[in-house]
Amino acid sequence: MHVLHVVGARPNFMKVAPVLRALRQQPGVRQTLLHTGQHYDANMSDIFFQQLGLPAPDIFLGVGSGSHAQQTAQVLVKFEEAVQQARPDWVLVYGDVNSTMAAALVCAKLRIRVAHVEAGLRSFDRDMPEEINRLVTDQVADLLLTPSADGDANLLKEGIPAERIRRVGNVMIDTLVRLLAQARLPDVPLKPPFALVTLHRPSNVDDPQQLRQILETLIGLSAECQMVFPVHPRTRSRIADLGSTFPGGERCLLLEPLGYVECLALQNHAAAIVTDSGGIQEESTYLGVPCLTLRENTERPITVTEGTNTLIGSDMRLLQSELKQILRGQGKRGRKPDLWDGRAGERIAAVLTGAAELRAAA
Ligand code: UD1
Repeated sequence: MHVLHVVGARPNFMKVAPVLRALRQQPGVRQTLLHTGQHYDANMSDIFFQQLGLPAPDIFLGVGSGSHAQQTAQVLVKFEEAVQQARPDWVLVYGDVNSTMAAALVCAKLRIRVAHVEAGLRSFDRDMPEEINRLVTDQVADLLLTPSADGDANLLKEGIPAERIRRVGNVMIDTLVRLLAQARLPDVPLKPPFALVTLHRPSNVDDPQQLRQILETLIGLSAECQMVFPVHPRTRSRIADLGSTFPGGERCLLLEPLGYVECLALQNHAAAIVTDSGGIQEESTYLGVPCLTLRENTERPITVTEGTNTLIGSDMRLLQSELKQILRGQGKRGRKPDLWDGRAGERIAAVLTGAAELRAAA
């Protein structure tokens, strides 16, 4: 069996690693790793390949940045050619980035079997580009590998036949479990207690007024709690666009994007996490660190109902009061959801090798 994995952007890399490893243990499985090039900076891509022990991609499409249409169209055209040459038995797509949706669509049209890892998550907010990607990918995929029960329920409600759905657990947590012992703090002047801050959603950073409000609130809070803020390239350029002062400094450390093991160590040692990332909501739940999410909704509700996550939306007063509560030791304590156990990759490998006969969806 030949399995081709498609990755493109930073959050895909920690999801593919455990599946590659698990499938390597299976006799008769050949694997190809394809990188679309959606993320291309060394600190958004290469460092993850090194730290996660990923092999260099067999195929690199060099798609790069652009509008959603441009980026998606480039993946469609280039991936169609690549996958026709590779002729895999299965294509695996991960998460909810533009590369995920584009590759799934190509496979559906070519009738190449495609499995979606992290299927079924829904924010029910179509203002999020990722929600569109999730909806389209799940509609066209032949096999839907879900991280949690809410994923199964969402898919069934959308009319996906139960036999195409397999709950395998959270594959990103496999990587966390494997690398936690190697987590190392970056060499920056930390002054605990500190909060790890990450921001990159268009809804937070593309609106100058919203971005300014968030930054001003963080500066205000930094008197009580140091802010450690690795800045995504999109956010860095939006901060520059503000043209105003967000000087950073000792109480508010502005860092370049970090590698996986550095980010993991910061999460693990943080008093609190302030984020709009999907993955960090999950990692903080696993680590038991209170997480304040600057979004109105989440496609990962289990992090709120079972984990340490609290949705803040854009209410900066709520952010202030919740962070202060955490600093008083009254942060949310959650538990690890089921099947967040470090073995999701193995379960995916078992489903795939046992499902060799699954036919392309009618
Ligand atoms: C993408 C995903 C998002 C994911 C995020 C993680 C989509 C729709 N969005 O958002 O779900 O949470 O990745 O980071 O697929 N840039 C660089 N260097 C890079 C990559 C990007 O400078 O290596 C800059 C470019 O200016 C680019 C901008 O960041 O235009 C946005 O990149 P893009 O891939 O479009 O989306 P992300 O915001 O990274």
